[in-house]
Amino acid sequence: MSAAPEDAPGSGRIAAPITAVESTESAGGPLLRLTDLVRQYGGVKAVDGVSFEIQPRTITGIIGPNGAGKSTVLTVASGFMPPTSGHIEFDGRDVTGLPMHRRARLGMVRTFQIARVFEGLTAIENLMVAVPQQRSLTLKGLVVGRRYWRSEEEEIQERAWQLMKTFGMADKANEKAGRLSGGQRRAVEIMRALMMRPKLLLVDEPMAGLNPKLTRELEEVLMTLREQGLSVLIIEHELDTVERICSEVLVMAWGKVIARGQMAELRTRREVQDAYVVG
Ligand SMILES: Nc1ncnc2c1ncn2[C@@H]1O[C@H](COP(=O)(O)OP(=O)(O)O)[C@@H](O)[C@H]1O
Ligand SMILES: [Mg+2]
Repeated sequence: MSAAPEDAPGSGRIAAPITAVESTESAGGPLLRLTDLVRQYGGVKAVDGVSFEIQPRTITGIIGPNGAGKSTVLTVASGFMPPTSGHIEFDGRDVTGLPMHRRARLGMVRTFQIARVFEGLTAIENLMVAVPQQRSLTLKGLVVGRRYWRSEEEEIQERAWQLMKTFGMADKANEKAGRLSGGQRRAVEIMRALMMRPKLLLVDEPMAGLNPKLTRELEEVLMTLREQGLSVLIIEHELDTVERICSEVLVMAWGKVIARGQMAELRTRREVQDAYVVG
C-alpha cells in the first residue's frame, strides 16, 4: 500500500482528548473471562479448550500461526457465532447465550479482519449509524418530538466528530467511505466500534496492510484509549507491535493456548518458536 499522506488515519499526533470511553464503569474483577471454550466446524476443532481472563485497562495480544484459531476466539467471544461448548463472562455477567448486538450494548465490540464499512455512506455517517438512536422511537419521543430526540442526535454527532479529530481524519468526514484508502477504512471501522463506548475492544489484525508509520499511529491511539479506561484484545501478526503495546500475550496453536506471558520473554521460548516454524 502506498504511503501517500492522505492515507493517514492520523497526523502522528492525538489531536483531541478521546471522550468516547470515559463514562464506562466496570463491575470489578476481570472484564472478560473465557472458560473451556470450544468451537468446532464439522470435524475441525478450530478452538479446543481455551481459557483466559482479561483485566480492565489492559491490552492483551493473541499471536500464533495461521489457522491457530485466533479469529475464531474473537468471533465466539464477541457473540458473532456461538461456542460449541464453554462459557463467556463479560464484566461479571454470563453472556454465553447473548447475541452480538446485546454484548455490544454491554460494552464488548469487535472489528473484523477485513474492515467492513458502508461504502455509500460518508465516513462520519458510518460512525453515526453505529449508535442505535432510541429517543425518536419512544413514546416521549413521539409526543415531544424533535426537541427531545434532537439532543441525542447532536450528542452522537459530537462524539463522531471528536473521534474523527482524534484519528486525524476530520478532513475526510464527508468523504464517501468507498473512496477511502485501506488504512482509512480500518480507522473508520475502529472509530465506529468506539462510538458504542465499549469497555472492551476486540480487534483482528488491525495493522494488516498498514505501512510502518500508520502502524505506529494506530498503536498510539490504542495506548491512549487504554489510558482512558479501555481494554483491548488484539490479534496481531506484527510481533513488534505486540511487544510495544501488549502487557500480556497469549500464543495460540492448534486451537489451544500454548504459552502466555510478555512478548519479549515469549520470543525466547522454544515452544513458541516451534509453533511458528511447524504451524
Ligand atoms: N467458518 C468456518 N468454517 C469452517 N472452518 C473454519 C471457519 N472459520 C475457521 N475455520 C477453520 O478453523 C481453523 C482456525 O481458523 P481461524 O480461527 O481463522 O485461525 P487464525 O485466525 O488463527 O488464522 C482453521 O482450520 C480454519 O480453516
Ligand atoms: Mg485470523
